Amino acid sequence: MADSKPKLPKSSEIEEPASSDRRGFLAASAVVTGAVCTLAPLGAAAVFVLDPLLRKKTGGEGDGDGFIKVATLDMIHEDGTPVEAKVIADRQNAWNLEKNAEIGTVYLRKVGENLICFSAVCPHLGCFVQFKGDHYHCPCHNSQFDIDGNTTNATPPRPMDTLECKVEGNDVLVKYQTFLAGLPEQVTV
Ligand code: FES
Repeated sequence: MADSKPKLPKSSEIEEPASSDRRGFLAASAVVTGAVCTLAPLGAAAVFVLDPLLRKKTGGEGDGDGFIKVATLDMIHEDGTPVEAKVIADRQNAWNLEKNAEIGTVYLRKVGENLICFSAVCPHLGCFVQFKGDHYHCPCHNSQFDIDGNTTNATPPRPMDTLECKVEGNDVLVKYQTFLAGLPEQVTV
């Protein structure tokens, strides 16, 4: 004779609704927590890596248009003899800000009523070009330039690099830039 008693389910077969909800909640919490734990450090890392790129590279005593004061008018020779002047500005080097760093050297020369400015960086391979009384000379590989910056031997690939300069009141300002070495044209870095 068949057993007519209703069978009770085993305890393992009982699905507790409350327990199922709790598991869902825990799973969702784990996903959210995992996402936060993953994305927060990534965001922080992105800010850390990009930070130097977002900062201003250099800044000096100038007019906010890239011009930096390098001399005063009374320093310029009336007879056209070049004057060597240091370019001082704040330098952003990756994560370090160096205040009032020497970022370059220029030569200033009065020609008639005009002021011209040469970078002292040799266009051959980047050494320091020296003024030698009536011409410029780079000791690294013997590049030679006349007083107007034109090449006078075959070593340099181009004349000395010129920079924009201007006079404001008694101040001489230069828009300091660097250029790629070894090219026949002046190409900004
Ligand atoms: Fe000036 Fe080569 S770097 S001559």
